[in-house]
Amino acid sequence: MTTKTSSLDPDDASGDGCRRAPIVAVQESLVSIDVSDTRVMKNEVGHVLLGEQRLKSEVLRVQNQVADLQVFEDTSGVKVGDEVELTGEMLSVTLAPGLLGKVYDGLQNPLASLAEEHGFLLPRGIVVDAVDAERRWDFTPAVTKGETLQAGQVLGTTPEGIFEHKIMVPFDERAAVEVTWVNRGNLTIHDPVARIVRPSGEERTLTMAQRWPVRRPLPESMLRRRIAERVYPTEPLTTTQRIIDTIIPIARGGTACIPGPFGSGKTVLQSLIARHSAVDIVIIIACGERAGEVVETITEYPETMDPRTGGSLMDRTIIICNTSSMPVAARESSIYTGITLGEYYRQMGYNVLCIADSTSRWAQAMRETSGRMEEIPGEEAFPAYLDSSIKSLYERAGLIRGPDGQMGSVTFIGTVSPAGGNFEEPVTQATLATVKTFLGLSADRAYKRFYPAIDPLISWSRYLDQMSEWYAKNLSPTWVEDVKAAHELLHRGDDIYQMMQVTGEEGITMGDFLAWQKSVFLDMVFLQQDAYDPVDASMPLGRQQRSFELVKEVVEADYAIDDRDGARDFFTRLISLYRNLNYSPDDSAEYARYLREIRALVDSKRVKVADAEEGRSDVGRVDNRHKGPMDRPRKST
Ligand SMILES: Nc1ncnc2c1ncn2[C@@H]1O[C@H](COP(=O)(O)OP(=O)(O)OP(=O)(O)O)[C@@H](O)[C@H]1O
Ligand SMILES: [Mg+2]
Repeated sequence: MTTKTSSLDPDDASGDGCRRAPIVAVQESLVSIDVSDTRVMKNEVGHVLLGEQRLKSEVLRVQNQVADLQVFEDTSGVKVGDEVELTGEMLSVTLAPGLLGKVYDGLQNPLASLAEEHGFLLPRGIVVDAVDAERRWDFTPAVTKGETLQAGQVLGTTPEGIFEHKIMVPFDERAAVEVTWVNRGNLTIHDPVARIVRPSGEERTLTMAQRWPVRRPLPESMLRRRIAERVYPTEPLTTTQRIIDTIIPIARGGTACIPGPFGSGKTVLQSLIARHSAVDIVIIIACGERAGEVVETITEYPETMDPRTGGSLMDRTIIICNTSSMPVAARESSIYTGITLGEYYRQMGYNVLCIADSTSRWAQAMRETSGRMEEIPGEEAFPAYLDSSIKSLYERAGLIRGPDGQMGSVTFIGTVSPAGGNFEEPVTQATLATVKTFLGLSADRAYKRFYPAIDPLISWSRYLDQMSEWYAKNLSPTWVEDVKAAHELLHRGDDIYQMMQVTGEEGITMGDFLAWQKSVFLDMVFLQQDAYDPVDASMPLGRQQRSFELVKEVVEADYAIDDRDGARDFFTRLISLYRNLNYSPDDSAEYARYLREIRALVDSKRVKVADAEEGRSDVGRVDNRHKGPMDRPRKST
């Protein structure tokens, strides 16, 4: 790997020629330049020239002949009178085969190779190719000379691990182009693969690599030209976590946030989701978390077996990481770098999951920079545009039909770490106003070790109703209704529990006591899931469905139990058997045995239809359904 300025660097690529401007002020990571003699664009990349070093920076604001740039590196030694070289390129990433399996910082510098060459303390001003420039890829053309193509249409393909990496017409081509030449064979990402001619007659030579400005949604111009289309998400993203998939679902191509107080399990939950979700590619954006945690992620992932492919999880993962010890500006950009890479693979027709941990650190980086620029602050000193920044970030998720008809998705899940676990703070509030699934973690549940510590009483999903057609077709016609009944039981159980705190157990009816026990049962055996048990850690949707229907049968039954101790004893035994069922591999002998024991226990106390009709039962709830889920044919999903 060479340590040099990438040949994809704007300095080489832009025909604009570099312009220079003098520095008039330096304030930590912010430098101001006098641009009275120079053209300058917002979000343009500049390099602060410091001896041999070139410190990458980005124009944030231009006003009154002065441009403010955030510098992505330590600015010590930079002084008034030094120069900044403007590149004419927006802050961009390289899109090419070879991205999968990489660990990048927020500016797409590959961390593994940087560390190899320079040790752990990265010197300033070092630029390394984002993807290996020497590696060769077998390029197979998908088009022939003379064909007319639109932006985003496939020119050819090359295998990238287990995926077919599609090489597409650059996303910024504004009109149909004609292919005048196409290559084939074993090529590097800098070798020409095709030549196109624009309607104006202008020719452009294409390679397997293209650049894209990270702050601009990748399908933006294709959507505007109606050669790509945004599609409403209607299918769930299976994460294999029961409380999510069954109770508070996320749609494929949708958005979710996981706010939670310090130590409530945000990172563990995100890593479970990353590992087991039914997606092709995972982008992990670790922004501003503790350095030790990031190192853990980087060392753990390559060694983790991918439950979906049997290979290494890293083969379909890209990690973008910035620890809080890196400059603030690099943290802020990392989230955009990550989502742009996600959009790129979505454009090929893949299902991508982008997870950001935590977006609070990203927002704090934005706050620091905004403070330095002396912008008018909003709530808690966050910039006034906090809401719109959060909104436009989550809006980059979605399901997109591309110009070749291929469907791809980006699902975006962000954690939020509000100080003191107070969800009223601005970042949580702005995120809640944007996302469609809210998975709120509670300190109380984490303290009780009820993991995942998602609080079902405050969490919600707008996708449950939105995906009702899918559930009716693929799971059961009454699915949404049944899930809502489970929510109701949890709320009723909580109400009864609160009442008991005041009146004591004796102050509530036996019927209420049983309803509370049923809600505890639902919580203990279905909402909670053991991340450290090899079987329970991940439950496929088909098994979740069977399990949910069994839970439903248990909680809907009426029981002939008339004392509180008897009820407690009955449900304690049931919970213990059910947990063992959860730990048993599907279709194993012990699975069958626990299932039989659960059945027998339930039947021993269940009020028979005849008894109930004669009115001999005065306890429990409505609705006797004696035909259980295990008697029905299974549906595979
Ligand atoms: N699903 C789980 N099963 C078992 N233990 C868990 C689970 N989730 C979290 N824990 C325990 O809680 C600890 C803290 O979890 P985690 O680091 O994910 O919290 P966090 O919310 O990301 O914290 P921070 O706010 O510090 O980033 C873990 O080290 C683990 O011991
Ligand atoms: Mg964490």
